[in-house]
Amino acid sequence: MASQIPEELVEEIRKANDIVDVIGEYVQLKKQGRNYFGLCPFHGEKTPSFSVTQDKQIFHCFGCGKGGNVVTFLMEIEGFNFTQAIHFLADKSGHVLPKEMQTSSRQEQTQESQDVLSANEWLTKLYHHLLRHSKDGKEAYQYLVDRGFTDESIDTFQLGFAPNSKDFTAQFLEKKGFHPQQMVKAGLLSAKEDQQVTDRFRGRVMFPIRSHLGKTVAFGGRALNGQEPKYLNSPESELFRKGTMLYNFDLARPHIRREQEVILFEGYVDVISAYNAGIQNGVATLGTSITEAQAKLLRRYVDQIIICYDGDQAGLHASYKAARLLKQVGCVVKVAHLTNDLDPDEFIQTYGADRFRNEIIKASDTYPSFMMRYIKKDYNLKLEGDRIQYVEKVLDEIALIEKPIEREHYLKELANEFSLSMDTLSLEIESRLQKLGNKQDKGYQKRHTNTIKSKRDATGKLLPAYHNAEKQLLTYMMADESIARKVLEELGGNFNVEKHKVIVTYLYAFYEEGNAPNVSHFVEQLPDAELQSYVVELALMPTRPDISDREISDYIKIIRTEQSDHVLIKSLRDEQKLAEQQSDPLKAAEIAMKILEIQKQIRS
Ligand code: UTP
Ligand code: MN
Repeated sequence: MASQIPEELVEEIRKANDIVDVIGEYVQLKKQGRNYFGLCPFHGEKTPSFSVTQDKQIFHCFGCGKGGNVVTFLMEIEGFNFTQAIHFLADKSGHVLPKEMQTSSRQEQTQESQDVLSANEWLTKLYHHLLRHSKDGKEAYQYLVDRGFTDESIDTFQLGFAPNSKDFTAQFLEKKGFHPQQMVKAGLLSAKEDQQVTDRFRGRVMFPIRSHLGKTVAFGGRALNGQEPKYLNSPESELFRKGTMLYNFDLARPHIRREQEVILFEGYVDVISAYNAGIQNGVATLGTSITEAQAKLLRRYVDQIIICYDGDQAGLHASYKAARLLKQVGCVVKVAHLTNDLDPDEFIQTYGADRFRNEIIKASDTYPSFMMRYIKKDYNLKLEGDRIQYVEKVLDEIALIEKPIEREHYLKELANEFSLSMDTLSLEIESRLQKLGNKQDKGYQKRHTNTIKSKRDATGKLLPAYHNAEKQLLTYMMADESIARKVLEELGGNFNVEKHKVIVTYLYAFYEEGNAPNVSHFVEQLPDAELQSYVVELALMPTRPDISDREISDYIKIIRTEQSDHVLIKSLRDEQKLAEQQSDPLKAAEIAMKILEIQKQIRS
């Protein structure tokens, strides 16, 4: 693969970055036997079929078929090209790449997104400086201090101030050489009808919104004196997609991993306030309800999520929607219970960090408790009729709980609260479970037949013998150079399956260059991602270290037989066509019979 970075250095960088560590930053991996498993980041799933093999330094998803090594993983998940992926890894392992190579990788990003990132970076620094050190920024700084922000948090979150001017930022960006229209498109400036550009953010406290890689991709600007809108945000752009990003995800990520838990807020200020209160695994959506993409992103990192939204009716409703969605994607959901219309930041300012951690976060409701609280809001429990309806609704929810012990727990709670007998409630639950059971059984059957079908495909039971022989042989060839040499002598590139032909060609070349067997290294030589995934899948097939020469020869024989038959069939088909053209149906039929017979032999 063409790259400016010397092969040995690439290899060294790859060795210094263990695939389990790198992928562990994106997927919660659990060790099972010799492999690690997690939820595939490339397709939606609830049960893990994504595996990482540390020995071989490769990953593979049995669900969607994607696979490769640490470099191809990064290319896939970050949209990097090869060089960018190597740079990224070099940064991680502390390798310093020579200067020329650094510029070459930068050039490969599109010029436009590079400019916008660079402008965002300049403005982050400029606004931060103005807030901290200029006379203009004094009022904004005081505003933050009054709201309980510490200097440390202002620095950590790079908060800033955009002056109340119509062209301060515009002039700054122009001096730096940025193209005005491009800056308008990126949402950093506004354009008037006469095409003149002006500042978009004026007299606002600036919250840089960072991507998961820590780069500013947008701003949220908060008004100081009650102007509207309260928060003015950068518009959506190629770099800034609200529905797929989360505020503070970059800084929170290591804490989320360590604590195996994430806390979801609604506002930037809530995240920062919680940070000041010692809670570092907090993230927030960007002014919109949580999307499925965000839910799935979080799910990949953790099982448990605590929703900590505002304590008003809107917050309760948003919590309900978020809780359902997060539950749907497979999270264990808890919901913090704020009251008196307070938001998390206001609670912390009023009652302090300790009480927030203990009485709000640690005391969050489990999902069923939250549902009961949520359902309650629609009923007046002083009225008999309402009480019955409420109990019915809650029973519907309890029936959905999977664990019998948990169901029992909530039933008892309900029985106590409304002075009902456990017997009655249990009966009610039974009938609901039966109804649900019927539905679920059907779902189960459907799933079950699906797995059987796909298993057959995966183990290749339905594939012809030569196809399996080729797959097996390739697996051995990748693990053992001497086997590859033997096959080269006896078969060369004459595999029957087109894909296999391509792979052996690359494999022979790989060994010829003096490489030792190394699947992770080999996949990189392959021209496309599909082929890479396929090879990884092959590499994961079981092999026996004691395979004999005889068995290898048998595989070769099977492949050859298919070949000669193929050649024969092809020439017979030609003959058949000729006979048809010569209007000799008898002869054509005879030939057709012969072909059928050969095909029957191949299949048996
Ligand atoms: P809130 O209105 O709850 O603000 O909006 P907040 O977080 O409590 O902020 P402070 O404490 O008043 O400063 C929550 C989130 O909704 C988005 C922002 O992302 C904000 O953090 N929002 C709110 C906007 O995008 N625009 C608005 O005008 C208001
Ligand atoms: Mn607030």
